[in-house]
Amino acid sequence: MPQDRLKVLITEEALQDRLRQMAAEIDAAYRDSPGLLVVGLLRGSFVFIADLVRHLKVPLEVDFLVASSYGRGQESSREVRILKDLDEEVEGRDLLLVEDIVDTGYTLDSVVRLLATRAPRSIRLCSLLSKPSRREVEVPLDWCGFEIPDAFVVGYGIDYAQRNRNLPYIAEVLPEKA
Ligand code: PRP
Repeated sequence: MPQDRLKVLITEEALQDRLRQMAAEIDAAYRDSPGLLVVGLLRGSFVFIADLVRHLKVPLEVDFLVASSYGRGQESSREVRILKDLDEEVEGRDLLLVEDIVDTGYTLDSVVRLLATRAPRSIRLCSLLSKPSRREVEVPLDWCGFEIPDAFVVGYGIDYAQRNRNLPYIAEVLPEKA
């Protein structure tokens, strides 16, 4: 992606400030938890979850789940596949699902439905970004870092054709110049 097509939307500093705020709230929410399992949805959440858990002070374990929409490209599809399930048991545990971005909501909704069948003590949802204008299924986010407009974004774990996940900030991808 040429640099002139990237416009910084959320700086590294703004991301880290918001992460610290959310982590303090999450710590408070799980103060009395008998066992918190932080579940990252790969691949997009890998940067966010790595930073987030380093701000958390409550005892926790981390596990990952890979869910993917059918098809590639910018549009989400409604069919969600579980490509890799959790390794940990979830029965009786507090689950915090961590996403990089919620768009239509289908991915998180499917994962919540699946994990709810395993009798966890609770399920809460945390997403770094949300595009409310794109929502097709309601997903009650307990923590949302930033609500953004319907722009195509990359960075901080989010890709364009698998590239740009390593940018330390969130950038909007501008249309190609004619
Ligand atoms: C992205 C993102 C969310 C999902 C959100 O994942 O990480 O999981 O799309 O879209 P939705 O709300 O419309 O379901 P993607 O399938 O691109 O895979 P990735 O995490 O590997 O980048």
